[in-house]
Amino acid sequence: MLITNIGELTTNVPTGDDPYGTMTDAAILIQGDRIVWVGPAGEAPSDPSTGSGTEVVDARGRAVIPGFVDSHAHLVFAGDRADEFEARMTGVPYAAGGIRRTVAATRAASDDELRRHLRELVAECARQGSTTLEVKTGYGLTVHDETRAARIASEVTPEVTFLGAHVVPAEYADARDDYVDLVTGPMLDAVAPHAKYIDVFCERGAFTPDESRRILAAGMAHGLIPRMHGNQLGPGEGVQVAVEMGAASVDHCTYLSDSDVLALAGSSTVATLLPGVEYSTRSPYPDARRLLDAGVTVAIASDCNPGSCFTSSMPLMVALAVREMHMTTAEAVWAATAGGAKALRRDDIGAIAPGMRADLVLLDAPTRVHLAYRPGVPIISAVYKDGVAVA
Ligand code: NIG
Ligand code: FE
Repeated sequence: MLITNIGELTTNVPTGDDPYGTMTDAAILIQGDRIVWVGPAGEAPSDPSTGSGTEVVDARGRAVIPGFVDSHAHLVFAGDRADEFEARMTGVPYAAGGIRRTVAATRAASDDELRRHLRELVAECARQGSTTLEVKTGYGLTVHDETRAARIASEVTPEVTFLGAHVVPAEYADARDDYVDLVTGPMLDAVAPHAKYIDVFCERGAFTPDESRRILAAGMAHGLIPRMHGNQLGPGEGVQVAVEMGAASVDHCTYLSDSDVLALAGSSTVATLLPGVEYSTRSPYPDARRLLDAGVTVAIASDCNPGSCFTSSMPLMVALAVREMHMTTAEAVWAATAGGAKALRRDDIGAIAPGMRADLVLLDAPTRVHLAYRPGVPIISAVYKDGVAVA
């Protein structure tokens, strides 16, 4: 397939003075699931080795970006917490305790109900340009329910995260050490074969820094890559523990000290910002500029979940990053694509270059700026994953 007449192409491959490798009047040649050539439209191979069957897509001057990599989402759940959202809009603060409501609804749902709901959300993500999704467990919190969440998630994505350490469930309220033993023992043994990452919510009201260290270390001993929810609701040690443990990413990063920023800058841990949460909880946004100016690798993701942020829209995350966190559109698109790929330790997605997976989004707009300039408008025109149109 040849996609040609691309008005503005964001490759994320740095060139001379442009870290985002922006090209105008460009073309992309795809064979199977991979990109094989990228260059000026006028120089596209005239006789691609795919033969006469090459399909030509005329982008008619519109913009193309890499598929969004949504590196943080909680999509295996049942139930609805719109009432909490509405209460927050009148001034009630977000409380992580609401997680237990979704745990109750999720435990009560059948496998097929969870699967159907997950697949609807995955299709919703694809329509909005997400070609890679990380999906967390975390609303089961029993060996049985966490294992089935991971198994069902692994049917739709290889990027599955075990989040048994989301909160201490109600039945362990007076025996939290026993719950940590369960998460790091039998639950981990059962879930690890279906997962790639281990996550923990390191926050007052969830897990302490020492518990978080123990949980991540146990997951790593099972071959899982550590990641973390940290510094969401207030200052704390989450970022420091994540960096110390070599986490792929620490997510939220809303309340950071200077030493947190310094630690991130000197590490390979990505800071993943989730501005939909601040939107949905009416909280102050993280200081993206402080992180970027310190040289920290920043990703943005949806955190789609029924409690703190129920949107799957990566275009909305780009718009919020630009409007509310003062990122340029190029920085925001990079963070939502290449940044997400780094947060997932993937080197085959997040950029448009020969050898990369053919995951792309065609915008119904002449430039990527329209993602932020036209918030809420459905400008995702076509989405290709592994070279196949998925929306
Ligand atoms: O990433 N912070 C912890 N977990 C989710 C919220 C989950 C919920 O409220 O159901 C988050 O914001
Ligand atoms: Fe989350």
